[in-house]
Order: sequence, then C-alpha cells, then structure tokens
Amino acid sequence: MPDDIPLALSYDDVMLVPQRSTIRSRSDVDTSTRLTRNVRIAMPIVAANMDTVCESAMGIAMARAGGIGIIHRFLSVEEQAAQVRRVKRAEAKIIEDPHTVAATQTLAEARRVMVDRGVSGLVVVDQGRLAGMLTRRDVEMADGAVTVAEAMTPRERLAVGARGISSPEALARMREARVEKLPLVDDDGGVAGLVTMKDLLLLEQRPEASTDARGRLSVGAAIGVRGDYIERATALAEAGADVLVLDIAHGHAEHAIAAIDVVKRAVPGVDIIAGNVATAEGARDLAEAGADAVKVGVGPGSVCTTRLVAGVGVPQLTAVMRCAAACAEFNVPVIADGGVRYPGDVAKAIAGGAESVMLGGLLAGTPESPGVAVVRDGRRVKVFRGMASAPAAEARRGVEEQGEEEFTPVVPEGVETVVPLREPAADVVRTMVGGLRSGMSYSDAHTIREMNARGRFVRITPAGLSESHPHGAR
Ligand code: XMP
Repeated sequence: MPDDIPLALSYDDVMLVPQRSTIRSRSDVDTSTRLTRNVRIAMPIVAANMDTVCESAMGIAMARAGGIGIIHRFLSVEEQAAQVRRVKRAEAKIIEDPHTVAATQTLAEARRVMVDRGVSGLVVVDQGRLAGMLTRRDVEMADGAVTVAEAMTPRERLAVGARGISSPEALARMREARVEKLPLVDDDGGVAGLVTMKDLLLLEQRPEASTDARGRLSVGAAIGVRGDYIERATALAEAGADVLVLDIAHGHAEHAIAAIDVVKRAVPGVDIIAGNVATAEGARDLAEAGADAVKVGVGPGSVCTTRLVAGVGVPQLTAVMRCAAACAEFNVPVIADGGVRYPGDVAKAIAGGAESVMLGGLLAGTPESPGVAVVRDGRRVKVFRGMASAPAAEARRGVEEQGEEEFTPVVPEGVETVVPLREPAADVVRTMVGGLRSGMSYSDAHTIREMNARGRFVRITPAGLSESHPHGAR
C-alpha cells in the first residue's frame, strides 16, 4: 500500500476566484446546459430520484422552472409509468389523446373521470366521432343522473380545428370563438386531439420550461440494473420519459456497466444517464460503455452514511473534477449529484466541470415533494430519507425488483430525518440559479461551458471557511 495518499477536496475546501469580467449584468449569462448528450435544459438543476423528493408533482414543477425531475423507481412499473405520463400530460401544444367520455354516460361518471385524471374538460365521443365538449361547469350545473349528451356543448355549436393546426392558428381560433379548449378533428369527424388556451399561454410565458418537441414537459425516470429493469425501461420509454437514469449506488460495478448497453438496445432513442461514480476510471468506463451522461457522487448526499458505514467515497469537488476530465474525452456531460447546501456549491460544481447538479435535500421540504407536511415541535416538516436508509428499505418491501439488493444493504447507508416545509421548488431553482449566475459573472463565464473552462479555485483553510460564513453579529 503506497503511503502517498492523494488529497481530495469538497465544496467547502475551495472558493472561486473573482476574475476580470466582461459581464455587465447577471442576466447576461446563459444557464442553458446539456443534461445528456441529446437533452438540453434551461437551468442546470435536477431533482433527485428519491422517494421523498421526486414524483410527478416535482417533475412538473422542475420542468416548468427550466430544470428536470427524475421519478424514483421504488414504485411498481405501472405506477412509475403513470407518474411519467402525468408529467407528460400536464401540458402540451397538442394533447394527442385527450381524455374522453361517451355521450351516453352520466354526469356523475364524467365527474369521476375529471377528478381521477385531474382535468377540467372532457371530449365527448359517440362511436369514435366528436360529439361535443363537457366542461367542469357543465357538470356542476346539473344533476349527476343527467346524461352527458344533455349537458354538453354539442358538436354543431363547437369551435373545432383540423388535425395539424399550428399553435398560433389554434390560439386565434379560440380567441375568435371566445373558448378555452379547441378539439381537433379528422376529415371523417374522428377526434384528432385537443388544444387548450392555458397550455399555449403557459408555453408562451415560460420559454425556459423544459419541453420535448411536442411541447410536453420533459421528465426522466430511474431504473435499476437487475430484475425487471428492461420491462421497466420499456414501460417508461413508452410513457414518454425523455431520459432514463441507471440508479446504482456503485455504478462502477461490472454488472452496472454491462447494463448500459442492454438498456440502450431495449429503448433506442432514449438517453441513458449512468452512475454513480466518483473516479476518473469509473466515469471513463461508463462513457465508453455508451452512457449519455455520467452521474457523479459517492457519499456526499445530505442523508447518506456510506462514508461512515463503508468508509467509501470521494469528496465531491474532486470527484466531479476527475470525472468531468475523463468524460470530456467522450464529449459526455457530468451531473454532480449530492452535497449541495448553498447556491455557491452549484457554481463550484459547474466550475469543477459538471454541466448540471442534482439536488435531494434542498428540494425535500418543498410543497411538490411526495408526502404530507406534519407538525413536529410546532414546526411544519416533511420526511426526507436516504434511499439506503432502513425506513426506505422497509417502505419499499413488495415493490423491490426481484434480485435487487442494491439499496437494501445489510447495514443501512442512509438516514431518515425531517426537513422544514419550505418555498415551492421553482423558488429553490431560482435561488440556486441566481447564485450560479452571480458566480458565473465573477468568473467572466457567459455560458455553462465557459464556466466549466474558466472557473478558478483557491483552496482555503478552516479560518477561510469561518470567514465565509456570516460572523458580524456578536
Ligand atoms: P443531497 O445532498 O442533495 O443528495 O440530499 C442527494 C443524493 O444523495 C444520494 N443518496 C444516498 N446516498 N445513501 C447514500 O449513500 C442513501 O441512503 C442515499 N439516498 C440518496 C443520491 O445520489 C441523491 O441523489
């Protein structure tokens, strides 16, 4: 065993050095970035695939804010695919398969469909043809036993569009008819889709939202590398997942590397994020095996105890820098996963070579994280736990993939805690990106790639760290 053990650093060990800058305003920097080789997002912030962080509500909020969420995998295949579908259905330029109701059904039945699907209008069909539109208002105005046909706005009084209508045309048609929903029809009267005023206005107002080519919000989903993982990958891809994350604590295991190729063949066209690794060798092996992005972080997470339990890990800044240098040879982006406590850590991660940052703890207390807020000691809090913690392992008994032991170690490698209820996820993203913008302007970096190249660090001492924290009030 050599005694020249290399030094590894974390975010708190360094500061970014202010540099001569051409940037006049923080709004002049462009934070758009590569999540993977083929997927771009406007803000380099990713919600972690943890069961107390990211399901559909978080996925929707993150994509609307310009980042992206990764739906965790500790659900049945059907439930996880349904979560993905919920994000993909939250908004779209054209809803290609709108929820429908038959003209012969009752209003009580229609109301149930609206509640179950979370929509305020249904397309009424009669033998596959458009028969009318039914809104929540129509449903509330009459008795539940009344038929849909009696309460709906019938086809002859509806404004409709043809299949393939452009968004501006659809908006103009709705404004002219003073309606909020425009059903689309084929030549033979068959239902070809639905356009809603709300979605088109949202898309216009939020150019930074992460969307796919059809204007649907972008979302990722996690899978394992054993058991039903291919069935899961296929179901998630069919549901519209834009990226899949191979979610393995030790991504530099041979079976994890081999899984990349198997998944890529099973779902061609969907980018694969592989991880987690913390060394150049690990990153290189994943990139070489075809990963479209490499997720970096072994043990830095706020509820991780891997470093204490297994004695394993690499302080996060060094891990990110080494992995980013290795991935650069393959033109594969790095996601810095875990350990972010301050907006400045995002700036440091990007300066270290990451192209995006994954957050768990900072998003766990938002209204969009799964679970309900409870009052403890007079504070409103939400549960947050490591995926390798004992309570998480207990909770997912039954949905655990067959033969999957990855996150159920003999000794737990994570803890459960509670975090205070905090502001919406979009505000967390805004705060993180605000700090990043500032860090970029100090570093004369107009883009994320410039920040990767230009960010310069100094190492600091404990005295420097204590100087960094507020210390004026005595
Ligand atoms: P933060 O610091 O943002 O980190 O809360 C989120 C990341 O932590 C990882 N994670 C774990 N790591 N044991 C671990 O060693 C665990 O139980 C555990 N749960 C989550 C994961 O990479 C996540 O994205």
